[in-house]
Amino acid sequence: MSDDKNIPKIKIVKNGPYLVSGNIPMAKQTILVDNQGHGVKWEEETCFPMKEQYALCSCGESSNSPYCDGTHQKIGYDGTETASIGDYLNNPQVINGPDLMLTDAQQLCALARFCHRKEGGVWDLTEQSDNPEFRASAIQGTWDCPAGRLIAWNKKTGKSIEPPYEPSIGIIEDPAKNVSGPIWVRGGIPIESCDGSQYAVRNQVTLCRCGKSRNKPFCDASHVSKGYKAKNTD
Ligand code: FES
Repeated sequence: MSDDKNIPKIKIVKNGPYLVSGNIPMAKQTILVDNQGHGVKWEEETCFPMKEQYALCSCGESSNSPYCDGTHQKIGYDGTETASIGDYLNNPQVINGPDLMLTDAQQLCALARFCHRKEGGVWDLTEQSDNPEFRASAIQGTWDCPAGRLIAWNKKTGKSIEPPYEPSIGIIEDPAKNVSGPIWVRGGIPIESCDGSQYAVRNQVTLCRCGKSRNKPFCDASHVSKGYKAKNTD
């Protein structure tokens, strides 16, 4: 019989942390930008020890970020989940290009800004995807979008074109905006609501880390408008 603790999973505690289990590696992921402030590259820093299980702060007030230190109880944190449990593909905007299709679920935007490429926005690039350079740039823009807002689809095969992530967690930092970003969940890790429902399994998605999202548990970029800085972050 398989040991449940070894299966990658995230369980949301009511008004509390995200319980991560299954030996999922975690790294700091920093957004590097160009001179216009658009995301151009992720810088990964492996600075967290491997742990079989850990609890990540969702309220934004832990003094031991990214881990929960129990502060959510002292402050009476309201972590009510308001996001749709349903599938991402229920209602995204669809952009049809000659070679690619793009799906866009704007409510998931984490404002990482990789969709604005030096060649143009991923939407325009999709519409010109018979050009190989623009096609490749559009795909890269969707791969670098941590929130899973954007997915490129091969129109000939009807299949999504997604990065081959292993289960892993990224703690996003955005020094160009002087803010701490959300929790990047990669590689199809199941996320279970505090009521036991399952969110749609995604290749990548971002969970709120500042406690201010109006689309919990997912990030809605509130960390940028609120100027969120995690405590205990270099
Ligand atoms: S969720 Fe526990 S301290 Fe933030």
